[in-house]
Amino acid sequence: MFDRKSVRISPSTPWFADVRTVLSPMSGVTDRAFRDICRDYGAGLSFCEFTAAKGLTYNSERTWQLIDSEGERAPVGVQIFGNEPEFMGGAARMMRNTRLDVLDINFGCPAKKVVKKCGGSALLADVPLLIEVTKAVIAESPVPVSAKIRTGWDEDSVNYREVGLALQDLGCIWVTIHGRTRQQKFSGQADRDRIADFVEILDIPVIGNGDVVDGESYADMVRHTRCHAVMVGRGAIGNPWIFKQMDAVDGMGEYEPPAMMEILDLARRHIEEDCRYRGERTGANVVRKHVARYFRSFPGAAAIRRKLFDTEDGAEMLVALREIREEAITRGSLS
Ligand SMILES: Cc1cc2nc3c(=O)[nH]c(=O)nc-3n(C[C@H](O)[C@H](O)[C@H](O)COP(=O)(O)O)c2cc1C
Repeated sequence: MFDRKSVRISPSTPWFADVRTVLSPMSGVTDRAFRDICRDYGAGLSFCEFTAAKGLTYNSERTWQLIDSEGERAPVGVQIFGNEPEFMGGAARMMRNTRLDVLDINFGCPAKKVVKKCGGSALLADVPLLIEVTKAVIAESPVPVSAKIRTGWDEDSVNYREVGLALQDLGCIWVTIHGRTRQQKFSGQADRDRIADFVEILDIPVIGNGDVVDGESYADMVRHTRCHAVMVGRGAIGNPWIFKQMDAVDGMGEYEPPAMMEILDLARRHIEEDCRYRGERTGANVVRKHVARYFRSFPGAAAIRRKLFDTEDGAEMLVALREIREEAITRGSLS
């Protein structure tokens, strides 16, 4: 239904031809439990949280846990960051025993702690180094390599064209572009004209990213930019059914906003899985921000939120959830 640009799909990733929606890598958010949930709602590809190449090569257990994708159903992507080609290549080489379909290089992260170490978006300001890093990763990676960029470091150095063409020449199978500069961080609007221009100049697929929060903004992104696929970050937090909503826009299935019962079941699953993967306390801390948002459009959302935040661990959250269910039954808002 959309006039998407026809692109060169790499023979190494034929499955990507049908991928239209992607769960973005989000630090502290896109853990195993959340990836599985988004996939069940239709995400065509899900990314793990980004990981420091140095942490991986030093065999930091915590870092490796971030990309624990053992047994995960395809397709799943791992993302690494760093500015030293030898560590980036070394981390790529270590992916041999990991379950992943694509290895992504982060050239977009604006976070101070990442940029200070000259990783993430800092490399947009040092294209020769960005090229060296990409070459090292591609040379060592056991799976195809993609990259994620911003439009540039700041308004005076917008260089997505130069960077994108270089990444394409080096052999990246696609590039994701978040339509903001590093300086903008998350302010303003993602620039769809620049994403459209990026789509136009590359032969490989482009994943458009920025400010997609529902079916309408998805349709607008695809119509405006003709991008092959759309990556969703913040719009999926507490709202994984956005993937179903986007599929419906593409003519695949129907979308109905989830009823209270479905959300209660989903919340229970999310709490149980996060606690299983991360342990009771950490799991509860991570899952709380999702679950509280699940209920945002229901009557009594603020009280539900307070109740969930007033818990110490997963077991207490499940008790709170049962009470929320009973209150909803009493109020008659479950049917
Ligand atoms: C909490 C949070 C964590 C993020 N972590 C990452 C990350 O690990 N790697 C990355 O490439 N981008 C990361 N991002 C940026 C998103 O992937 C995405 O590019 C950005 O949020 C814009 O898309 P959106 O408007 O759909 O959220 C993060 C964003 C948020 C809000």
